Amino acid sequence: MPTQLQSRPRPSQRRSEGDGIALQGVGRAFRDRRGALLRALSGVSLHAAPGELLAVVGPSGCGKSTLLELICGLQSPDEGSVACAPAVLMPQRDLLLPWLSAADNAALALRVAGLPRGRARARAAALFAEMGLDGFQGAHPSELSGGMRQRVAFLRTLLSGKRVLCLDEPFGALDAITRAEMQEWLASALQREPRTVALVTHDVEEAVVLADRVAVLSPRPGRVIEELEVALPRPRARTDAAVIGLRGRALRALGGTSSTAAAA
Ligand SMILES: Nc1ncnc2c1ncn2[C@@H]1O[C@H](COP(=O)(O)OP(=O)(O)OP(=O)(O)O)[C@@H](O)[C@H]1O
Ligand SMILES: [Mg+2]
Repeated sequence: MPTQLQSRPRPSQRRSEGDGIALQGVGRAFRDRRGALLRALSGVSLHAAPGELLAVVGPSGCGKSTLLELICGLQSPDEGSVACAPAVLMPQRDLLLPWLSAADNAALALRVAGLPRGRARARAAALFAEMGLDGFQGAHPSELSGGMRQRVAFLRTLLSGKRVLCLDEPFGALDAITRAEMQEWLASALQREPRTVALVTHDVEEAVVLADRVAVLSPRPGRVIEELEVALPRPRARTDAAVIGLRGRALRALGGTSSTAAAA
């Protein structure tokens, strides 16, 4: 197994950034199994004001998941600083607990926060219909499709109540129709109950439809090669000329370095 680079002192002082996110000159490197240095991120400076949605796109392996773990405090940077309010991560893989029902999985953060099982489950179960999961509250993860599992994991993330959400490809396993529905649902949920969001996606269109700002990363080590402001009114349609224009700019910035991003 590769090991994380632990030898250097960590220069960053983790501090709160109100309800927003601020990364300044962040670098992160790992040592592989043979001890060679692998630089995942370099000189990344990004900012999300409270209530903003920052989308991050970039080729596979450019450090996007690492970036979210840094924001959540699950890793520390080797260079630079990360400031963020308490944040929750929805990891790229759903990591549902196979022995719990869907409702109990969704209610996990509420249970950890001390809510009794019945009340936690009832609160989570009440949101199942909105997620297109009604009737599956009692199902176990093995009985759910990949997309359904991802929606349960998403619900669990929202119910954590944290002010900052880090979402790693949250809709990656969903079919196109469900994906579009979930994007609409997320946009309206955030309007009802604003949170600061860092969203990693390979879908440039999704980034432009949902985000206030889109950061495009280079291949590893990931650097910010373009930052697009998306100052468009919501709700946004994929077919809006302005959305199509910004999508084109992001894809040009990616420059065909990522087959997944270019295909999105
Ligand atoms: N704990 C670790 N130990 C060693 N190397 C790591 C570790 N975590 C990540 N890496 C390496 O850092 C680089 C960035 O990984 P990361 O998972 O952040 O990429 P990513 O942009 O999320 O990729 P993808 O789009 O495929 O999910 C990769 O080369 C990966 O092998
Ligand atoms: Mg990743």
